[in-house]
Amino acid sequence: TVLVVDFGAQYAQLIARRVRECHVFSEIVPSTMPAAEMAAKKPKAIILSGGPASVYAEGAPVAPEGLFDLGVPTFGICYGHQVMAQALGGTVENSEIAEYGAATIAVAEPGMMFAGLPQHQSVWMSHRDYVSRAPDGFTLTARTDVTPVAGMEDRERGFYGVQFHPEVLHTEHGMELLRRFLYEGAGCRPNWTMVNIAEESIEAVRSQVGGKRAICGLSGGVDSAVAAALVQRAIGDQLTCVFVDHGLLRKGEAEQVEKDFVAATGVNLHVVDAQERFLAALDGVTDPEEKRKIIGREFIRVFEEAAREIVGEAAAEPVEFLVQGTLYPDVVESGGGTGAANIKSHHNVGGLPDDLQFKLVEPLRTLFKDEVRALGEQLGLPAEIVWRQPFPGPGLGIRIIGAVSRERLDILRDADAIAREELTRAGLDREIWQFPVVLLADVRSVGVQGDGRTYGHPVVLRPVTSEDAMTADWARLPYDVLQKISTRITNEVREVNRVTVDITSKPPGTIEWE
Ligand code: XMP
Repeated sequence: TVLVVDFGAQYAQLIARRVRECHVFSEIVPSTMPAAEMAAKKPKAIILSGGPASVYAEGAPVAPEGLFDLGVPTFGICYGHQVMAQALGGTVENSEIAEYGAATIAVAEPGMMFAGLPQHQSVWMSHRDYVSRAPDGFTLTARTDVTPVAGMEDRERGFYGVQFHPEVLHTEHGMELLRRFLYEGAGCRPNWTMVNIAEESIEAVRSQVGGKRAICGLSGGVDSAVAAALVQRAIGDQLTCVFVDHGLLRKGEAEQVEKDFVAATGVNLHVVDAQERFLAALDGVTDPEEKRKIIGREFIRVFEEAAREIVGEAAAEPVEFLVQGTLYPDVVESGGGTGAANIKSHHNVGGLPDDLQFKLVEPLRTLFKDEVRALGEQLGLPAEIVWRQPFPGPGLGIRIIGAVSRERLDILRDADAIAREELTRAGLDREIWQFPVVLLADVRSVGVQGDGRTYGHPVVLRPVTSEDAMTADWARLPYDVLQKISTRITNEVREVNRVTVDITSKPPGTIEWE
């Protein structure tokens, strides 16, 4: 493993992903972890991430004591570069001039990192402090006009540092530098591949679950589908999947789970048709938060009933495990796998009663989203499931502005299916983060179709681009794609006579309308 020491920047996750793109497993650890604990993980290499602090700021994070005595090759990036320089006897100074964005470095002495690469390279900088003098034993490898030590290395001791960010794509040779550090500097081997990940994960699940039984809730989304497929490979019929059809999914999604997913995996599926129950519970409810609460509550109740039925089956082995599709970013954000992660996991189980306790199986908890998709492909899941855009748990229930009814759901499902179909046809579905279609069910608009006046409902198209749903921008869909969607929806969905496009970014708008 390669440890990415997180000094509190958003860059640590990106660095960890880039290391894995080099086919080397990486793990994020907080900078407060004692060096001995890091050593116990037997890392092949350590990378010190960037961070927002100045090394001179009060309470600025420092390298764990003894880190540089572990004998592990170490690469400092940005703040990590400064931490390394300071800890080993170099000098870090505060500059009047900050360096943000694109910059050009000049290679001073190629060393291992820059050998054979161009003399001048564009890189991405983001700093104010700088290393003015490298520690003894280091050679200066690169500089810029304002940064005297933009790169340094001490090959003998296995220490490397750069002031810029090799992990961002704007740094021309960033990936090459990372590969050099990993392969040449640290002797890592590129054996973190999807085949290995799948095999190792399957083996791990097998040894965790043994001969016991497990259940897994399928939502129709990527994460639960991949988690279930993997566990199915590991323990076969000891796994039972529960799919609660709450009637709030999009057109074809329930069938995809019930037919395509089962066909691809051979999973043992228990379907609960709870459509009537959800409709009854949502009857007349218009408040968004109220809808969320009702849907969440009913979901847990239905899942619980199904789980009790399965647990109670007269089988040789009890059901001991619950499979969850928790991903690595959730683990990192809730405490970086240092125990605090359990809080989030429990939170995910969300309100199962005390007498119904399961141990968790979380086969994706070391993976990033793109890795989960690749793993899904490796496991032979259909592309429609693997490449599905994020979809909110409350489903179409929060895309009908007004009370939810079966009729309104059908209208929205038809309009949504057309929008998705045309987006896919235009080849844009992997570029667009999400494409909600919202039915303004309590609004009516006048139109004219054929010879008659119509009095129908407007729908809103809400295509957005995003990296992580925290912020988003409205997607500039080509006019001809929008036109096609608009024409088809008004022609094919009788109750809709007007199509509008939402051009609000997030913030100030949210992605969903409710
Ligand atoms: P907003 O609308 O807050 O959405 O910009 C951000 C992301 O979260 C999804 N979303 C939800 N997901 N339960 C969920 O599981 C919810 O209640 C919920 N509300 C919003 C939304 O689709 C987007 O991806």
